[in-house]
Amino acid sequence: MIKHKDHFHGSDLEKIEEIYGIKKEEIVSFSANVNPLGVSPLLRTTLADKIDAITTYPDREYTSLRKCIAAYCGTDHENVIVGNGSTELISLFIQIEHPKKAMIIGPTYSEYEREISLGGGTTLYYPLREKDDFRLDVNDFISHLNENIDLLVICNPNNPTSSCITSADMRHILDACKEYDIYVMVDETYVEFAENMEEIDSVPLTNYYNNIVILRGTSKFFAAPGLRLGYAITGNRDLIKAINTRKNPWTINSLAVVAGETMFSDTAYIKETKDLITKERARMYQAFCESPDYKVYKPSGNFMLVRILRDGLASQDLFDRAIREKMMIRDCSTFPFLDNKYIRFCIMNPKDNCSISCCIWRTFASCCNATKILRISSGENIAIAFDRSSILSLFTFRQPPFSNCTVMTFFSSLMSPSVIALFS
Ligand SMILES: Cc1ncc(COP(=O)(O)O)c(C=O)c1O
Repeated sequence: MIKHKDHFHGSDLEKIEEIYGIKKEEIVSFSANVNPLGVSPLLRTTLADKIDAITTYPDREYTSLRKCIAAYCGTDHENVIVGNGSTELISLFIQIEHPKKAMIIGPTYSEYEREISLGGGTTLYYPLREKDDFRLDVNDFISHLNENIDLLVICNPNNPTSSCITSADMRHILDACKEYDIYVMVDETYVEFAENMEEIDSVPLTNYYNNIVILRGTSKFFAAPGLRLGYAITGNRDLIKAINTRKNPWTINSLAVVAGETMFSDTAYIKETKDLITKERARMYQAFCESPDYKVYKPSGNFMLVRILRDGLASQDLFDRAIREKMMIRDCSTFPFLDNKYIRFCIMNPKDNCSISCCIWRTFASCCNATKILRISSGENIAIAFDRSSILSLFTFRQPPFSNCTVMTFFSSLMSPSVIALFS
């Protein structure tokens, strides 16, 4: 097995190609958290026709694009600023705020801490607790805020826990932050995937609070990480002015402008994405809830965090097994507060979702000495596993759907030899 100290980012397919010798085109990435439908059909037809856009510089103010984003998000275009992916805006915002002491709710995306430390600031983590299923205890959190903190970073829904904070709770947080003069950066990269998006979306709060900036992008929901189009929303015009002063001109290219002006109006694609993710997420969540070997945390984003409950199996084993089957999941052992018992994978199309679930369950079966994995008929598997306490587990799972999924556990001693012979 390959020991990797550094994790693979969801987009590190070149590294995988080099280390495992698997062509990157053949890998299904469950770690990039990108919409499995691919690009919007409207965008696909429009972009080619608008290729001549690259013959001129884009509008320095990006007014038309900002109007499209504003209409999509329900805000005024004066509150919108665009960037080269949300990454550019995370960086610019932190450079401008230049926090001495920032608080981050973690475990979360590592880029915030990196950017804060590049600017010479220190980061304090407020840990989400496993015993709370990684959901924020808002009152306890607020009691940890004080005047020494100048920036708070929240990812909502949070990567990798997929937990979320409602806008009602966000209001309490913003009120407390106002008292201590703390600016709040909310990364809503995954908010459009949430079934209860209207309860989470912080954009309406920008009408009432001037200490919040919201970051979003097109990389995940619109399956366009190569486009590099992100945006920020804030009601604080001074902040927008400061970002514009610091920002290089034309960091969003003309094709990304055309794409942005198109994709936000593809309502059929937006609906199809939401329907697919909602349905598949519920199916996957249910399937993992029923497994005695894993714990899954209720997901709001398009990905799930799973904890391995059994001894003798680590996140790296699952990563390794999945990648050899050309599927890439996220080994979460490098996230602060998580360890080698956590994995994360995103929701893909139904067939791929079945493949990754089967792979994860099969890995468990083989790690506890499965005597045999039988393929009964196409699409149906039976795995038999004897674990150390001589319990016989019989897994059957059919593809699709998981509604037929059963995980039965027997004491092998209670099974007649003829039954065991059936499986041997
Ligand atoms: C929470 C979060 N924010 C931001 C980003 C970066 O997004 P973009 O491609 O818009 O720069 C990622 C990418 O993985 C992410 O997970």
